[in-house]
Amino acid sequence: MSILLISSIFLVIIFLFSSLVLWRINTRKFISSGTVASAYDSWTQDKLLERLWGEHIHLGFYPLNKNIDFRAAKIQFVHELVSWSGLDKLPRGSRVLDVGCGIGGSSRILANYYGFNVTGITISSAQVKRAIELTPQGCKCNFKVMDALDLKFEDGAFDGVWSVEAGAHMNNKTKFADQMLRKLRPGGYLALADWNSRDLIKTPPSMLEKIILKQLLEQWAHPKFMSINEFSNILITNKHSSGQIIFENWNSYTNPSWFDSIFEGIRRPNAILSLGPGALVKSIREIPTILLMDWAFKKGLMEFGVYKCRG
Ligand SMILES: C[S@@+](CC[C@H](N)C(=O)[O-])C[C@H]1O[C@@H](n2cnc3c(N)ncnc32)[C@H](O)[C@@H]1O
Repeated sequence: MSILLISSIFLVIIFLFSSLVLWRINTRKFISSGTVASAYDSWTQDKLLERLWGEHIHLGFYPLNKNIDFRAAKIQFVHELVSWSGLDKLPRGSRVLDVGCGIGGSSRILANYYGFNVTGITISSAQVKRAIELTPQGCKCNFKVMDALDLKFEDGAFDGVWSVEAGAHMNNKTKFADQMLRKLRPGGYLALADWNSRDLIKTPPSMLEKIILKQLLEQWAHPKFMSINEFSNILITNKHSSGQIIFENWNSYTNPSWFDSIFEGIRRPNAILSLGPGALVKSIREIPTILLMDWAFKKGLMEFGVYKCRG
């Protein structure tokens, strides 16, 4: 064997080993919303997530029996949720709040395509900074650092409230729902998408499932997953909602995102390599969690819930 081959194998082993060590010892266990803020600050500052996933830190919508690109699927997701939730019935100029807005991918589509006046809030100051950098002048979006569990707006200030994949980071889901519904005007539209577990009381998890759920919570700063039924009951019983909640499980549309997010690194290797060897280790470190997510969503241990209701 040539020296080159031996040293390449050696390098690969070192990379895999350090990623595995990072994965095991450097979990991002939820302690408070501060843990979530620092996890997203670091994901934003190292640029890796943005290079690979683009402006949207959420899964894509893959129409059944149709091939669609990873990034196009994320944009498609926003349009699908807008039309499914009825948000597109709001006139241009309506005020929409994006709760847990990331770096503003959805907010900009809601502003540019649907003509809404969007306020995005996130717990991460690095995300707000990046969202502002990415937003061209004239786009009706503004971004603020704010805790979703303590929204500093007047009650009824918004015609629409939008939140995608933020709820799994909230340690108090009742307060999360209450805060959003309070800020919605009577008759306004709520559009929500989130990661849920299946109903674990009805179908208790096996030992293996418990271990996997623990990893899914600890790796990406999640305090608790809730089932779709449990969360919709919270929405139904909230005094600010009309009481009519419609929800669906979109696993079949979103599941391809997991494998696709790994292939994205292979399709665009430069996106990672140009950030240096540290970025390679960091990206390999996320692979076990992505594979576990893929497994859990495919097995139905996790469910991608979408919810809509009126204020
Ligand atoms: C998976 S990302 C989704 C980002 C964005 N919705 C998107 O689709 O691109 C989760 C987002 O929720 C935000 N988040 C988590 N906990 C939060 C909290 N307590 N208050 C405000 N934002 C929070 C994170 O900062 C991050 O922006």
